[in-house]
Amino acid sequence: MKRRQFLTSTSAAIMTAGIVSPMFGQRAFAQGQPALTRLAMPPLLDTRPTGRLSLTATSGSSSFFGGPGTPTAGFNQGYLGPTIIMQNGDLAAEVQNNIEEPISAHWHGLLVPGEHDGGPHLPIAPGATWQPEMSIAQDPATIWYHSHIHERTAEQVYFGLAGVIHVTDGQDDARGLPSAYGIDDLTLVLQDRRFDSAGRMAYDPSMMDVMHGFAGNRMLVNGQAGATAVVPEGFARLRLLNGSNARNYALFFDDTRPMHLVATDGGFLPAPVALDVLRLAPGERAEVLVDFSDGGAPVLMSDPDQAYGVLQFATDNTLPARITRLPEQLDGAPEDLTGAEVATRQVSLDMGMGGMMMGGGGFAINGRPYDMGRIDFEVALGSVERWQIRSTMVAHPFHVHGVRFRVVTENGGPPRPENTGWKDTVLVTGEAEILARFDQPASRDTPFMFHCHILEHEDAGMMGQFTVT
Ligand code: C2O
Ligand code: CU
Ligand code: CU
Repeated sequence: MKRRQFLTSTSAAIMTAGIVSPMFGQRAFAQGQPALTRLAMPPLLDTRPTGRLSLTATSGSSSFFGGPGTPTAGFNQGYLGPTIIMQNGDLAAEVQNNIEEPISAHWHGLLVPGEHDGGPHLPIAPGATWQPEMSIAQDPATIWYHSHIHERTAEQVYFGLAGVIHVTDGQDDARGLPSAYGIDDLTLVLQDRRFDSAGRMAYDPSMMDVMHGFAGNRMLVNGQAGATAVVPEGFARLRLLNGSNARNYALFFDDTRPMHLVATDGGFLPAPVALDVLRLAPGERAEVLVDFSDGGAPVLMSDPDQAYGVLQFATDNTLPARITRLPEQLDGAPEDLTGAEVATRQVSLDMGMGGMMMGGGGFAINGRPYDMGRIDFEVALGSVERWQIRSTMVAHPFHVHGVRFRVVTENGGPPRPENTGWKDTVLVTGEAEILARFDQPASRDTPFMFHCHILEHEDAGMMGQFTVT
């Protein structure tokens, strides 16, 4: 697999050192740590007053552990990008690329036509600007954006070209939901990254890393390591994005307090669902409400079997606790598309051992590696289709552009709670069936993608494309 260095030349020698982090395999945070570093939110970029969105991709240098800087990239800043607030209506976007390689700006979860989707067919050359004039029309949701250049997505996202979007209708107060950004409404980008002993962020996947997806040895939340999220003594809303290249999370609190799931990828649920463990695969989002009225300081952990710390919480009773009870209902209405389908398609997410041993990859969908020049499916605009997805070798998080879908079955049974709402990405642990109505057009020039969101798999060929006409 060919590997190009990202952004600036860093020595290849630093890439494999791999340190064993205290984050993994044991409880992450020493009790009674003296200096609390408060977790910062990404800066807000509210497009509502102007109807305009301006992003500039830039290379940067970030120091995650206080040492010398390590090369990174971001939108409007050195690592990651701002949290963009959008509402329905016209949005004139402008994405400038100040990086020395082509990037794109894919709006993951935004329901817009293929020509505005920012996928691999819409690269922005170094120094160029892309200006999609979009029209937003969808339910409130936590979505995200990231670069999506074929064979470069994994590395570009890894080094920071990603951010969160809130599509809002301004009605969260009426819903009884926390809505004060960074106070009781937290945006949390979960990423594992691999750092060497000098604190440099490494990305040089071996064939094994490509097979399993590239895993880190440190947790970053919003690009910060070891920070504490401070919340009021009431309910807090956590908007969680799994922005990792490959890691699945099974999130839980160390004191077993529940998480009340209120929204999935594409919008609100009809009512909160209490979960002890929340699974979140790469590309997925979830919004949960957590009760901190006891003033506790729990740790958000992952993987009950081999637990490690993700994020320390602390409460501050001087912060306004606006929401002190759980809303009984929400206005999410995931539509039942059962029976409306006009076509059924099979999607096999393939990893071929033989091919990989030959160094050729073996990553494909329905036996065919991604080809930018080939249209895999042609979908009729406005139609509902049933897609039957099957994972081989490992569980693959399956994502479709340009739609939100319902998961109708998982391994022949009903979907697990995290998958009962609107989705655009689903972890397929064996087999899953989804139903979607394809309401956004996409031409042969700018088709929609469907792919595994383990970014190493996607780049290696586990991706296809379809038109909607
Ligand atoms: Cu998160 Cu094809 O995208
Ligand atoms: Cu997407
Ligand atoms: Cu995969």
